Amino acid sequence: MEKIKENISRIAAEKNALIIAHNYQPGEIQEIAHLCGDSLELSRKAASNDADIIVFCGVHFMAESASILSPQKKVLLPDIEAGCPMADMITAEDVIQLKKDYPDAAVVTYINSSAEVKAESDVICTSSNAVRIVQRVESDRIIFLPDKNLGNFVSKHTDKEIILWKGFCPTHERFSAVDLEKVKADNPGALVVVHPECRPEVVDMADEVLSTGEMVDFVQKTDAKSIIIGTEKDMIHRLKMVAGHINYIPASKDFVCPNMKKITLSKLYDTLLNEIPVITVPQEIARRAGMALQRMLELSY
Ligand code: 13P
Ligand code: SF4
Repeated sequence: MEKIKENISRIAAEKNALIIAHNYQPGEIQEIAHLCGDSLELSRKAASNDADIIVFCGVHFMAESASILSPQKKVLLPDIEAGCPMADMITAEDVIQLKKDYPDAAVVTYINSSAEVKAESDVICTSSNAVRIVQRVESDRIIFLPDKNLGNFVSKHTDKEIILWKGFCPTHERFSAVDLEKVKADNPGALVVVHPECRPEVVDMADEVLSTGEMVDFVQKTDAKSIIIGTEKDMIHRLKMVAGHINYIPASKDFVCPNMKKITLSKLYDTLLNEIPVITVPQEIARRAGMALQRMLELSY
């Protein structure tokens, strides 16, 4: 284990490769990465860094976004099968039809989507800036894609009309209000922090609704001694790295994103060594999706 970690760090340095990891990555990947973060932080980093290679430890849409924002760099994803079921719940054709149905609406698309879907969108958002982006976009009518739960959360924080799609994250959707009641009853006094991909009834019961990056900031400021964490289980590893004095309680043992867990140290090592699989996006799709991503970066100041 220590040998493979050493080798990863050495090859990354030799190749001027930046290893970035989403906050849901397995603990050992978080520890070896040069940077961990939420989707917005990782997009910002992908847009501005001087590495020759980016190794994205996360899922396909994240590596794809990095490739769009840094077209001159080689972007690698250690397992090409690491996808996101939510991103697969909408196609570019669906977006084209929605734009015909609501011609006066702006299309705000969650970063958890394919490059083709992003290319049909006006602006991208992440869970940490979704409300801000919807507020700042120049339209009072918004088609919000593809996550119905994040869209629902946004709709509670704006007067704008939000047209929802039917997408969702299976990992977050599985967690119910009844499950939350139970973990709360078992842990009286614990604060409840959930991700906005959770169902509306779960979100309504939470003390804080935060993106994964916002959770990292929150635990460094709060006085809470015990927190129920309503998101992917390895988020707790990340939180312990920055605020280890808090007692974190996983909201459910089933809070696992199987795709995030496809990245392993040995796949990361092979990817760095052989520089495959490379994630690329066709030029015209990348150009249009890139405009929507850049718009997000401009609007999320
Ligand atoms: P954030 O890390 O941006 O909160 O989003 C989480 C996510 O959807 C990854 O699946
Ligand atoms: Fe997709 Fe959900 Fe996994 Fe995030 S946690 S990558 S939304 S399946």
